[in-house]
Amino acid sequence: MSTLAGKHIVLGLSGGIAAYKSAELCRALVKAGCTVQVVMTEAAEQFMTAVTLQALSGRPVYTSQWDPREANNMAHINLSREADAIVVAPASADFMSKLLHGGADELLSLMCLARPIEQVPLIVAPAMNREMWSNPATQRNVAQLKVDGIHVLDVGQGDQACGETGDGRMLEAEDILEDLEGFFTSKVLAGKQVLVTAGPTYEAIDPVRGITNLSSGKMGFAIARAARMAGADVTLIAGPVSLATPRGVKRVNVRSARDMLQAVLDHVPERGVFIATAAVADWRAANSAEQKIKKDGSGQTPVLSFVENPDILATLAQSVAAQKGALFCVGFAAESHDLLAHATAKRARKQVPLLVGNIGPATFGQDDNALLLVDAQGARELPHASKQVLAVQLIEDIARRMGGAQA
Ligand code: CTP
Repeated sequence: MSTLAGKHIVLGLSGGIAAYKSAELCRALVKAGCTVQVVMTEAAEQFMTAVTLQALSGRPVYTSQWDPREANNMAHINLSREADAIVVAPASADFMSKLLHGGADELLSLMCLARPIEQVPLIVAPAMNREMWSNPATQRNVAQLKVDGIHVLDVGQGDQACGETGDGRMLEAEDILEDLEGFFTSKVLAGKQVLVTAGPTYEAIDPVRGITNLSSGKMGFAIARAARMAGADVTLIAGPVSLATPRGVKRVNVRSARDMLQAVLDHVPERGVFIATAAVADWRAANSAEQKIKKDGSGQTPVLSFVENPDILATLAQSVAAQKGALFCVGFAAESHDLLAHATAKRARKQVPLLVGNIGPATFGQDDNALLLVDAQGARELPHASKQVLAVQLIEDIARRMGGAQA
């Protein structure tokens, strides 16, 4: 379940062409389980109609501070008191300047000024032309808004509606949603460094063929995302998969087990957490051919011989950092049967404090899973759920073990 579920969000739109993305954002917030109350400035109504936002939010939109629907005629007070957060997207350059100076000549800015600062966070997603964005006046305003405790989201980069290219686009709806989810996630791994491996590896036999497995990388990517949301600095070493990189996560792509080991050694923190989710190929071809192996017409099949790949998890678990307790290593076990017995044996063999068992054939490529957490004391089940949900539960469990839980 999303951390946004059950939250009441007041979504404010100021004037900008990016307002079309706010329709998507409104829809995504509702889908995530929020109730959404839309407030629009007069300028915003030049770009989107209140009818569209009403249909998407399922609530009448507020556009005027003189709205007679409010019995006390104080929409700015009533709306801001109900909100778990006010999100202004798009936040135009003019609207941010108004926020900075405490302007209050229409409902949206008036409501932002009237919000109880301690209880109702204000999050703004800037949207403007690149010259407007880089103008010292705007940059000064952004810096001061942050000092004032307003959460200013990043801007996107790329083609702009005006035909120019650069910084200043509003983030896409899915990115804003991700940032909002992160905003409401407790930062149990704040300040911690987390390294995650994910996906299969690919071991070449010749330039066009190789050995791999059915791992999709979804569990590892979900874990990287959950760790990032929990405030960690996350590096994800990914085998060949085509999944999108979770927001704010540093990704390093690799192909073979040996590449993965090297990338892990290059990025492993001196203190922190290593989570080995990858389904690393156990063996590689002893001699990978330089050129494609051709059939010679005789019906003879090529004879392949294999050598064992390095065990990345075991290597890290035996490192000085792990032995000193500075690096907390978490292994995974993809099994086809007898999960508890195999996971318990694997934990001992790999010498890791925590090993997470799952049934490989049942979960590879799927969006859901069930996990068995095995440690020195025994085993605990995380019952069947989406990989996103399980990842959040696993990260919370790891944070508790590290004693790093903080609100
Ligand atoms: N692992 C690793 N390097 C390898 C093999 C496995 O780092 N060369 C890690 C995996 O990322 C996982 C754990 O070790 O965290 C267990 O992987 P798994 O494939 O289940 O077990 P294996 O050690 O390969 O043993 P087996 O295949 O015999 O079950």
